[in-house]
Amino acid sequence: MFTRFKAKFTRIDEIVPGIYKLSVSNDKKFIFSQFLILDECPILIHTGRAEWFDQIYELVSSVCDASKLRYIAFSHLEADECGSLNRWLEAAPQAETIVSRLNQSNIDDFALRPTTVLKKNKALSLGKREIILIETPHFPHGWESCVFYQPQEEILFCSDLAAHPGQFDEPVTDKDLTESIIKFQQKVGFMCEGKSFTQGIEAVEKLPIKYLATMHGSIIRGESIANLLFEMKQSFGA
Ligand SMILES: [Fe+2]
Ligand SMILES: [Fe+2]
Repeated sequence: MFTRFKAKFTRIDEIVPGIYKLSVSNDKKFIFSQFLILDECPILIHTGRAEWFDQIYELVSSVCDASKLRYIAFSHLEADECGSLNRWLEAAPQAETIVSRLNQSNIDDFALRPTTVLKKNKALSLGKREIILIETPHFPHGWESCVFYQPQEEILFCSDLAAHPGQFDEPVTDKDLTESIIKFQQKVGFMCEGKSFTQGIEAVEKLPIKYLATMHGSIIRGESIANLLFEMKQSFGA
């Protein structure tokens, strides 16, 4: 394993009771976040890169028995989404990998155990809470992509959508970051554009969303979310 992105900084924040944001960063200029939902069946959303496994395992262990993790889920095939999947499958023997229909053949090719498909718009019960898989091909990027919605707290785990730099020390923000998110995306260009972008936004914009939980940056909370989705659709949609 070639180590390029050492995580010099880590932090864990409880966003709502029992739901945690676990962040790592090399320089606080760009953040990679995982999300942990504690319930009868705890789930980790994004594993992080393989080289961060020990640090993320330690963060998870600070709030629960990490070896009892029941589910692992992520949006698409990329190192920050699922790089340490096999480390987690070894460390948590009961853990099951939840994938979209479009991602199963990718992940089954290298995962230590067979994956389980969660059909689109179907809910996976975690106990008191559930998550729903929304298929969003090419959105934010990658044909196999999906996002996850947690209806009880109205959280959209949106992977790279709404990525923005910095904000390591502000895990959740009520600020309207629309302008900086659009500028950042125009600069880096890692999301899809055109018809797939429009379809991706349309798959989520009607949901009640209190928290937009992006992998990169602050979780965006509150009223600016609807405006952000609208402005992104204007900028990057068909
Ligand atoms: Fe990605
Ligand atoms: Fe990412």
